[in-house]
Amino acid sequence: MADIGYDGKVAIVTGAGGGLGREHALELARRGARVVVNDLGGSVDGEGGGDGPAQAVAKEIESLGGEAAADTNSVATVEGGAAIVKTAIDAFGTVDILVNNAGILRDKAFHNMTPDLVDAVLDVHLRGAFNVTRPAFVHMREQGYGRIINTSSNSGILGNFGQANYGAAKMGLVGLTRVLAIEGRRANIKVNAVAPVAYTRMTEALFGAELGEKFEARLVTPLVCWLASEDVDVSGEVYSAAGGVVARFFVGLTPGYYNPDLTVEDVRDHWGEIRDEEGYIVPDDSSGELQKLAGILVGGAG
Ligand code: NAI
Repeated sequence: MADIGYDGKVAIVTGAGGGLGREHALELARRGARVVVNDLGGSVDGEGGGDGPAQAVAKEIESLGGEAAADTNSVATVEGGAAIVKTAIDAFGTVDILVNNAGILRDKAFHNMTPDLVDAVLDVHLRGAFNVTRPAFVHMREQGYGRIINTSSNSGILGNFGQANYGAAKMGLVGLTRVLAIEGRRANIKVNAVAPVAYTRMTEALFGAELGEKFEARLVTPLVCWLASEDVDVSGEVYSAAGGVVARFFVGLTPGYYNPDLTVEDVRDHWGEIRDEEGYIVPDDSSGELQKLAGILVGGAG
């Protein structure tokens, strides 16, 4: 089979001035995409900013023979999101691929978490994805093509101490991914999410250098690039990428327990059956659950 390429395609990668985003931008460009390298250039907790990181990566792409445009708008505002998409359209005429990757951390145990810590994290990760995706999605619908990759995290999908703000934002991105997959279907817009584990400035304290070596950021990029390709055959799904291991997360629904006269005691007494994973299904969308319910409530299936 031929190698995967992005000739003629235009990609936006947010937060591409370092870490994972830089790897994604470089690989997309190496394979022929023209890339908008967006990065605000701030610290891990989102303070400050500067045009250095975005420009450095754009220059790196150009020095390797690729085409890139640096962009330093923040994803955290509606205007910033619109400006990022405008950069792509002004520089390269369109946008085909969007990787929502920009991110910050403001960890705190929940009992100490103040509203400013919640707002800042939701603004970058969750609202940030809305802000950039909406104008890009409108454009993709018109052109009948798009690939969107949202960056989620196991901190939200599975939970992690001290990351209520971050985890909620990252799981919010899963909901956004699933709904946009449905809304984008007719226009050949495929929307998926990745949950990476990688050694970057964001996680260096967590890993330490020795373990960190195993989790190189560049090993997350092949999954992102596959999901950004024309050939990708899934939408609305969530994949894990970590140190060269690629796997799929999914939401399963157990067969459960049915009783048309359900009481509190019935729930208690059938708790094991309700929780039993044997025979679970993986619905494609909410109608998948409704079909199952119709089968039980109307069709009499157990
Ligand atoms: P990083 O800190 O190296 O990269 C994040 C980039 O986003 C930075 O360059 C930063 O300047 C940029 N950024 C922050 N706020 C921005 C804004 N408002 N507008 C534009 N750019 C902004 O960290 P890393 O690890 O590369 O993170 C990339 C993404 O992957 C983030 O969304 C992060 O939450 C996610 N992630 C990373 C994991 C890991 O193990 N490294 C685990 C799970 C998720």
